[in-house]
Amino acid sequence: MSQSPSPSRAGGCPIDHSALRAPDGCPVSHNAAAFDPFEDGYQQDPPDYVRWSREQEPVFYSPKLGYWVVTRYADIKAIFRDNLTFSPAIALEKITPTGDEANAVLASYGYAMNRTLVNEDEPAHMPRRRALMEPFTPAELAHHEPMVRQLTREYVDRFIDDGRADLVDQMLWEVPLTVALHFLGVPEEDMDLLRQYSIAHTVNTWGRPKPEEQVAVAHAVGNFWQLAGKILDKMREDPSGPGWMQYGLRKQRELPEVVTDSYLHSMMMAGIVAAHETTANASANAIKLLLQHPDVWREICEDPALIPNAVEECLRHNGSVAAWRRIVTRDTEVGGIALPAGTKLLIVTSSANHDEQHFADADLFDIRRDNASDQLTFGYGSHQCMGKNLARMEMQIFLEELTRRLPHMRLAEQRFTYVPNTSFRGPEHLRVEWDPARNPERNDPSVLSTRASVRIGEPSGHAASRTVVVEHIDPAADGVVRLHLASPDGKALPRWSPGSHIDVECGNTGISRQYSLCGDPANTGAFEIAVLRETESRGGSAWIHDSVRRGDRLKIRGPRNHFRLDEGCRKAIFIAGGIGVTPVSAMARRARELGIDYTFHYCGRSRSAMAMLDELVALHGERLRVHARDAGQRADFAEILGAPDADTQIYACGPARMIEALEAQCAAWPEDALRVEHFVSALGTLDPSKEQPFTVELKDSGLTVEVPAGQTLLAALRGANIDVQSDCEEGLCGSCEVRVLAGDVDHRDVVLTRGEREANNRMMACCSRAARGGKLVLEL
Ligand code: FES
Repeated sequence: MSQSPSPSRAGGCPIDHSALRAPDGCPVSHNAAAFDPFEDGYQQDPPDYVRWSREQEPVFYSPKLGYWVVTRYADIKAIFRDNLTFSPAIALEKITPTGDEANAVLASYGYAMNRTLVNEDEPAHMPRRRALMEPFTPAELAHHEPMVRQLTREYVDRFIDDGRADLVDQMLWEVPLTVALHFLGVPEEDMDLLRQYSIAHTVNTWGRPKPEEQVAVAHAVGNFWQLAGKILDKMREDPSGPGWMQYGLRKQRELPEVVTDSYLHSMMMAGIVAAHETTANASANAIKLLLQHPDVWREICEDPALIPNAVEECLRHNGSVAAWRRIVTRDTEVGGIALPAGTKLLIVTSSANHDEQHFADADLFDIRRDNASDQLTFGYGSHQCMGKNLARMEMQIFLEELTRRLPHMRLAEQRFTYVPNTSFRGPEHLRVEWDPARNPERNDPSVLSTRASVRIGEPSGHAASRTVVVEHIDPAADGVVRLHLASPDGKALPRWSPGSHIDVECGNTGISRQYSLCGDPANTGAFEIAVLRETESRGGSAWIHDSVRRGDRLKIRGPRNHFRLDEGCRKAIFIAGGIGVTPVSAMARRARELGIDYTFHYCGRSRSAMAMLDELVALHGERLRVHARDAGQRADFAEILGAPDADTQIYACGPARMIEALEAQCAAWPEDALRVEHFVSALGTLDPSKEQPFTVELKDSGLTVEVPAGQTLLAALRGANIDVQSDCEEGLCGSCEVRVLAGDVDHRDVVLTRGEREANNRMMACCSRAARGGKLVLEL
């Protein structure tokens, strides 16, 4: 039932009770009535606090707050996407109106906080955002890395021999504040004072100060406002400096109507808070979360290449922004609930980040999660946090320095407390301890000089490797070995879907090879791969056959799936050629479980060269047909496939000539009937002399990006601070897919089928381009 709130019931419950038939006359459920974001439950764990809502009532009215609350990923993303219907105008409004006395105090300071990047509507917002964006791009941010690292080192130096620290008090607040001031171009004022002011601003805007606290908070906010004004006045005398505010002042000369005085003053104050408080909180949340999972902490200590992904997963699992606010500007609907113009929304982004419908096993803390960067902690679209990549860089550097210098650090016994407010969340203290006698740098000073490179921008799936141990190696057929790979600590491995593969790093050879997973996907105790010694091995299969022994540790990445079984299909024909049996066997096993009507054709040179044969015969019985060439059982694809059938899907993996024969045989079949896995891309390197530049308009972000002839769309988007996931970057995997709203695409991937290409509404950003150098409009 769609509930219709009545905006005319000012001050009371906004729901039109006459339209409802709830037994007690009020449709506000018990949970909704009890919802109180200033309570400890919300502060401690917002996504858990609203789990009931995600599961049962994803859009509800909170009588205590006077807001409608939205908790699911899809609804929140849709709200971010449409900033005209869902205006950010109330994002900085005081969530708890203050009394007359506090208001008078604020007025006495001339407090006039106005529009900023966070709460401004169109058409004013985007021109300002565009004018002020450049210093936030990855290329510009790279200049700040040495300063952040140096500062972090100095702070760690101060407590490294103490054996204990409160990381919030002794590092995580001051370093981001100093970085923020440096980025803004603000001289380093009294840190404690700015910290106090900053907390006061949070409480004033998003908190529920008691009447007696309101006046003190108002004085602090008023002083903060005046200080921001004074700093700005001083900068005006010489705006040639390197900071973002000086950049803004220079832009003001160019675009005085766009970058106004009032805007700069508001941004100065909001910028100090936005640029450091969220980073300080996010860093404290991340370190706390990692230390609460000592095995994960150990993993990133051993392999710092995991840190960028770990940061992203921390931002998803336990980010520093719990919720944002929007106001509805015209009658609309969210999640089936009708909302009239004027409705205020609390959009709980931290809950969206735990939505099972978007993140598999959402409560699991998994630093190899491949869609962690879909998190909404930074928001999305035209109001997405401009400083997100500065925050990511700082968090990576903090983790890199701490894991290297204090890998033996652990959480001290403590209860975590939070500043009560709806939106910004991080522990007020984070007490850690360690044995200084075990500090690695005492024995090995070279620890101080090593460092991992920082990835500015969204992490790439390429970096997230995991270590597995070879439990056993069994001969599986002539020239084929089967490896069982388990987690070294005996823990469960991630679940995988049939068709998935892993990348195996071949020791120090610098080679990495992809192998499909075989065996039972439900078995999380081990990954199984079968490896054929290729006669013309480029090193990968020969290395596995010759060098890998039981008990060895291997580095792998994945599992990833570019070759998915459509579990809704009615009939399937599985065709495996030789070692191509590995993904197909897992698919056929799943089809059997699902009750899909299938046949499984396994082609090979001879039965002795066909891996897994006995177990496949035992599992699939009559449905398995073996085509062993040496027994004269050559596969006849015309007979196997029969007449084209719209209800049948064909899944094939095997040598190129087998796939070519099948493609020819499927010419008359529905276009998407044959599904094959590609491990090799036909893409060459981008040749600027043969390419044309093109333009993309990003509808959700309100930006226009030029893609030069020598650059991919993916690189150009990242250069403009737009997050797009990627994995293979060769047009093979589909992870960089973006939605196309207008324009013709020159598709160069092997992911989309002909029909999908013709529909012209999706493209792979890593390789595809605008046709004939035209213009594309993307849903980004
Ligand atoms: Fe794999 Fe683009 S990143 S298709």
